[in-house]
Amino acid sequence: MANRKAAITAVGGWLPETVLSNKDLEKIVDTTDEWILSRTGISERRIMKGPQRGTSEIGVHAVKSILDKKGIDPLEIDMVIVGTVTPDYVFPSTSNIICDKLGLKNAWGYDLSAACSGFLFALATGAQFIESGRYKKVIVVGADKMSSIINYEDRTTCIIFGDGGGAVLLEPSEDENGIVDFVLHTDGSGFQHLNMPAGGSVNPASHETVDAKQHFAYQEGQAVFKHAVVNMAEVSAKIMEKNNLKAEDIAYLLPHQANKRICDATANRMGIGPEKMLMNIERYGNTTAGTIPLLMFDYEKKFKKGDNIILAAFGGGFTWGSIYIKWAYDA
Ligand code: UT7
Repeated sequence: MANRKAAITAVGGWLPETVLSNKDLEKIVDTTDEWILSRTGISERRIMKGPQRGTSEIGVHAVKSILDKKGIDPLEIDMVIVGTVTPDYVFPSTSNIICDKLGLKNAWGYDLSAACSGFLFALATGAQFIESGRYKKVIVVGADKMSSIINYEDRTTCIIFGDGGGAVLLEPSEDENGIVDFVLHTDGSGFQHLNMPAGGSVNPASHETVDAKQHFAYQEGQAVFKHAVVNMAEVSAKIMEKNNLKAEDIAYLLPHQANKRICDATANRMGIGPEKMLMNIERYGNTTAGTIPLLMFDYEKKFKKGDNIILAAFGGGFTWGSIYIKWAYDA
């Protein structure tokens, strides 16, 4: 374990303005507000409407709010890593576009694809550049415009997902607080249960792929649910065990907001009560890489310096993991 820790020193978040409620979805697909709320915990989600808008817009707002509130010169930022599965383009990266729009002329960066675990993978990666001593200011974004890959005729997927995301600033910690540990996993055999079949190099976009609706996310909900419940709970228990943390030591769990029932199972396995599990799925749905930074953004004022915080996620790939943070500041 490196001696120099990377600390989250600021949080930003942003959601598009249009609300898509369960009642709105009742008019689009064969579903009910009651079914969606009881099976997932979601009441409404945000959708980015209008032409020429992409995930970079979410990132730009989130990162700009950090620069503004911290009074940071854009030229001070060394690096921007963006966790997303809905990049603006296949290339250039969303990171490039965010850096350009905000004048981060001294930064470089890239997009990182790990679906719902994208923010965790990006945070663990960004932390290395601080821990090594190479950089002083690294921004990690988790954002997705899921509405761009969702089939609004498929009631099993369109009810879950929404658009939005957030960002954090990583700086060298001045004390023992910061990102303490992470346990991250991938299992490519999960591909069959959750993927986007076309648009990559295996099935490049063609009339056939569009006609077959292969540019939408494909999900076998029950299979994903079963893997998510087991793995998110296991990995969260594992990071507690690895760091000798008991339930009473944990201030908050920030679980990826895919389904409230998956989050409940994780909290149960960790032995923590609902008051320690932070949720906003009811208002935003599942924003993929966006959920965990959006939780930080919504609940930042609750966090106290030294709080033990556990992040946990599971998603397409399969990818999953957990990060242990000792929170570095009082908001
Ligand atoms: O973000 C990371 C990765 N994703 C996840 O973690 C998502 C994991 N999966 C899930 O959250 C859940 O599997 C879903 C929310 C997607 C589905 O919930 P479920 O409790 O697993 O439902 P189900 O697929 O077992 O379907 C139960 C019933 C079926 O009807 P029958 O066969 O029992 O008559 C479905 O046809 O519910 C029906 N159903 C719906 N009914 C009303 C499926 N979707 C809907 C719907 N409205 N939107």
